Amino acid sequence: MTLAKPNAHIGPRSEAAFARARRVFPDGTSRATVERDPTPRYMKSGAGCYLTDLDGRRFLDLANNFASLIHGHAFEPVIAAVEKQLRDGTCFANPTEAEIELAALITGRIPHLERVRFMNSGSEAVMFAIKAARAATGKPGVAKIEGAYHGAYDWIEASQTGTPETWGPREKPAILPYCKGAPQGVLDTTVVIPFNDAASSVALIEANAKMLACVVLDPVPSRAGLPLPEPGYLAAVERAARKAGVIVIADEVINLRQSVAGASARHGLKPDLFALGKIVGGGLPVGAVGGRAEVMAVFDSSSGRPALPQGGTFSANPLSMAAGVACMGAFDEAAHARLERLGEDLRARLRAAIARHGAPFSVAGIASLIRIHPKRVLPRDYRESYRTPAHAAVMAALSRHMADEGVIVPPATLSCLSTAMGEAEIGIVVEAFERFLATRQDAYAAIA
Ligand SMILES: Cc1ncc(COP(=O)(O)O)c(C=O)c1O
Repeated sequence: MTLAKPNAHIGPRSEAAFARARRVFPDGTSRATVERDPTPRYMKSGAGCYLTDLDGRRFLDLANNFASLIHGHAFEPVIAAVEKQLRDGTCFANPTEAEIELAALITGRIPHLERVRFMNSGSEAVMFAIKAARAATGKPGVAKIEGAYHGAYDWIEASQTGTPETWGPREKPAILPYCKGAPQGVLDTTVVIPFNDAASSVALIEANAKMLACVVLDPVPSRAGLPLPEPGYLAAVERAARKAGVIVIADEVINLRQSVAGASARHGLKPDLFALGKIVGGGLPVGAVGGRAEVMAVFDSSSGRPALPQGGTFSANPLSMAAGVACMGAFDEAAHARLERLGEDLRARLRAAIARHGAPFSVAGIASLIRIHPKRVLPRDYRESYRTPAHAAVMAALSRHMADEGVIVPPATLSCLSTAMGEAEIGIVVEAFERFLATRQDAYAAIA
């Protein structure tokens, strides 16, 4: 199989598609997160871990639609489940058995997740988890990790994009609006805590105990650099939250794939609530809120109006449920163990290549997640992973080099593996990366 050739950059068909798209979308795309260099690459199809673009070029895919595909593209069991469900009908105003099956699968494998509700995106899951915490505590406020991304709900958007000029003291990060026009009331009820600084995080939770409904923790926050939690950090925050009557929400929208039981189980966190998404839908839109039965009782409408009504026209739609059952069922201990080994191998070989060339990079990650940083020292938090325009230019050059070699590596977010990959694919990635280090010193001289 031939991957894209060097300098086979964005092709004419993608360029033509983008010209059409610019006439109908504000910036030519329907997602701010679509990479463009300088135009997006339009995909025609995906099979396993390979993509084919409109111009017929093939790519090894390390994006996996923002880590939502754990088995790669067009996974046969998902195709079969969705095909059957398509013929049986795509949505009803009634529940289906598929939703019970997926709920049983999730509650059966994730500790502390006893009850669940489905929706259609990770953003919605985070939003309903926060609303559930409010309904359970009667308090409005939300604490979040500086730099962490949790989707599009106003109350969780603050302080994702701080800069050295705006982010304030490390021990008490500034509460920065994400969007123009963000209501002051949102900022007044948000607290931003510094990841891997237990003393400061605990002090901020204690100081705001009266106002805080929840603290939202992503055990390994991807946009904050994918740093691992240092020993004791999550436990200290969890303890402080419990003492202060603050609900602990684990956002595992990305990180559920860290183990069959999820990320909190792996890092010793015992959340009251979870927000899930991505792989749970097997490649179809999904979100889920789960948690302890006592807290999830806020959704219970069996004896009248619940503390938190939650519906949604397409919530628990049978296509997503059927795809989720097929996908999650195949993500078992054996599949996870294999992915874990591939991830370890890839990170070790990328690090060895960096060391051989004395290059100014480091590699973060765990399980099937990988993030390359244009930094010699592995970042511990958002501030350490912060990219100046020079850092961003290096990552753009790396991403372009990899694409020209036929490997999709998102420049600004993480990369991830799928079960469709094997040793051969790890070799392709490592060799393409090593050629970048060996031949493109010009691209990273500015940060060396
Ligand atoms: C940690 C985390 N939470 C929430 C979300 C939002 O999920 P969605 O894009 O499905 O709305 C994302 C999306 O990337 C995420 O990474």
